[in-house]
Amino acid sequence: MLDEILDRSLVGYTALGYRWRSHPRITNDLTGRVAIVTGATSGLGRQTASELARLGASVVLVGRNPGKTEAVAESIRRETGNPKLSCEIADLSEMEQVRALAGRVHAPVHILVNNAGVLRPERSETLEGFETSFATNLLGHFLLTNLLIDKLEAPARIVNVSSGGMYTQRVRVNDLQMKRGRYDGTVAYARAKRGQVILTELWAEALAERGVVVHSMHPGWADTPGVSDSLPRFYRLTKPLLRTPAEGADTIVWLCASDEAGQSTGQFWHDRKPRPTHRFRGTRETQAERESLWTELTKLSGWSGSLSGLARAS
Ligand SMILES: NC(=O)c1ccc[n+]([C@@H]2O[C@H](COP(=O)([O-])OP(=O)(O)OC[C@H]3O[C@@H](n4cnc5c(N)ncnc54)[C@H](OP(=O)(O)O)[C@@H]3O)[C@@H](O)[C@H]2O)c1
Repeated sequence: MLDEILDRSLVGYTALGYRWRSHPRITNDLTGRVAIVTGATSGLGRQTASELARLGASVVLVGRNPGKTEAVAESIRRETGNPKLSCEIADLSEMEQVRALAGRVHAPVHILVNNAGVLRPERSETLEGFETSFATNLLGHFLLTNLLIDKLEAPARIVNVSSGGMYTQRVRVNDLQMKRGRYDGTVAYARAKRGQVILTELWAEALAERGVVVHSMHPGWADTPGVSDSLPRFYRLTKPLLRTPAEGADTIVWLCASDEAGQSTGQFWHDRKPRPTHRFRGTRETQAERESLWTELTKLSGWSGSLSGLARAS
């Protein structure tokens, strides 16, 4: 009951919420498991990569800046004593680069963390002409995940890092790239994050027979460069209440590593508990909208597969 009040009042998103819920440290042994973490150069992604390495996994850090990515890998090797870190460079908002990245990844992969994200105050487009927030948060991860599915070795886990901001938005399949009306970066971001939650449910169903579980989650509000750079006013107001990156990444790592998180699929998590995917009237999409979202992302990304085809191992 108090847990629900904390979430509804948003106090649950802060460090107070995390500390009140206090969780034991994750100790599962991930030796022999291969994890890919996107957005591993900063904030929650860096923390996740480091924790997975601490648990013994081989971790592939995906970054877009070679020097920064290698420097993070080296510092994680030093922190954890785990030498099994490698780097892959790709801008996830460019589908050409996502395809090349997926081609370079070797099987088997056991854990995929779709974490890279961006919130742009102004509308911008990628070299391929996609709205940047949509391309980074949704389209790139849609394509990357679909291209990697045949490289996943069961039991495998996919974790999509969404945001509590998605509660405020309904998916807009007819305007995924916010071309109509005035651009609002927070709304564009929240719609893309809503899309990730829908994809999680679609993938979960399609991949269940393959032994792949799919989770989405929101980290609450954590003190990362993503928040301080994209939302400076929010950051100044909430700074004393923000979670540490370790607190924000805790549920990501738990979803990747814990036995309990291997027992269910398709849910939306926060602080190691499944949470509702809707809190406001009018945000619930229809089945037709879910199907159209998948169709539209397939078309825009240039992916040649189908949702029903994913269920069959190739
Ligand atoms: N922190 C929070 O309170 C919070 C709340 C809700 C949701 N989230 C979500 O948590 C995830 C991590 O966020 P964060 O707070 O840790 O942010 P962050 O510190 O800004 O980290 C974002 C990561 O994504 C990478 N990235 C951004 N655009 C990319 C692109 N086009 N191609 C490849 N990589 C790209 C960044 O790479 P560079 O290092 O090269 O910039 C960085 O590694 C995001 O999905 C975010 O939406 C965070």
